[in-house]
Amino acid sequence: MDGVSLVCEHGHCFDVARQGYVNLLGPKDKRSKDPGDSKDMVLARAAFLGTEFYRPLADACLDITVAYSSRVAGDQITLMDAGCGEGYYLHHIQENLPNNLRKKAELVGFDISKWAVQHSAKRCDGTWFVGSNRHIPMTDASVDILFDMFGFPDYSSFLRVLAPNGKLVRFTPGDSHLIELREIIYPNVKPRSERTKYPETFRLVSAKRITYEMTLGSGELKSLFLMTPHMFRSTPEGRQQALNHDQLSLTVDVVVEELIPTTA
Ligand SMILES: C[S@@+](CC[C@H](N)C(=O)[O-])C[C@H]1O[C@@H](n2cnc3c(N)ncnc32)[C@H](O)[C@@H]1O
Repeated sequence: MDGVSLVCEHGHCFDVARQGYVNLLGPKDKRSKDPGDSKDMVLARAAFLGTEFYRPLADACLDITVAYSSRVAGDQITLMDAGCGEGYYLHHIQENLPNNLRKKAELVGFDISKWAVQHSAKRCDGTWFVGSNRHIPMTDASVDILFDMFGFPDYSSFLRVLAPNGKLVRFTPGDSHLIELREIIYPNVKPRSERTKYPETFRLVSAKRITYEMTLGSGELKSLFLMTPHMFRSTPEGRQQALNHDQLSLTVDVVVEELIPTTA
């Protein structure tokens, strides 16, 4: 680290932005001028997650971290959030880890959206960079817990950066997730396609569902809507119908899976 820039072993220089993150996104990973979630989507996600309606999901991340840290000896564990969005989950872990574990935990988050990373870096201590799941700029076998929260996994990259005792933790929408909203937006709600088949390089060691109901007011509903792909997939009429509600009760149905490298 050179005060305001990082220099790699090949002599390439990367400036540390004023907000405390580094842009390590290679030109090959940039399929558009402004990849990933837009500034508006990031702001909407921050507003929605700020309501704490997804707190049970953040608590589940914390529980997994505490269980892992208590089991694994060593001075340090590295937690990485791949596609970290605006940093809600790592921030929750940082704020709520017991003191002895907080000292041990090194937090790393990245996202392909610079807006998301700017937001994360401002709110939470840790190492933040703009980067892609396809080429994660981390040393091989350096990550203990890799969170993929509603993201776009790249299993070969995940496998490369995971430590031999490391764990991949995925949160994905279950069949009933936000079903009431989907039924309002779409004339025919398609059942979700079969659950992910993991590559043979990973073994599923635990799977559970987190389900509960939340009742949103119109502002919260708008933020939720703006942060999801429904915003782009729905017709103007579907969008209007969804946003017409003063209040709406929605099911949260999230599948939490823990996977380890098959070689472990
Ligand atoms: C559905 S959002 C989830 C954000 C966050 N994990 C959360 O749950 O709040 C998906 C995120 O993945 C990011 N993303 C999309 N493609 C990516 C890639 N190839 N590598 C890293 N992040 C990516 C988007 O910018 C967005 O922030």
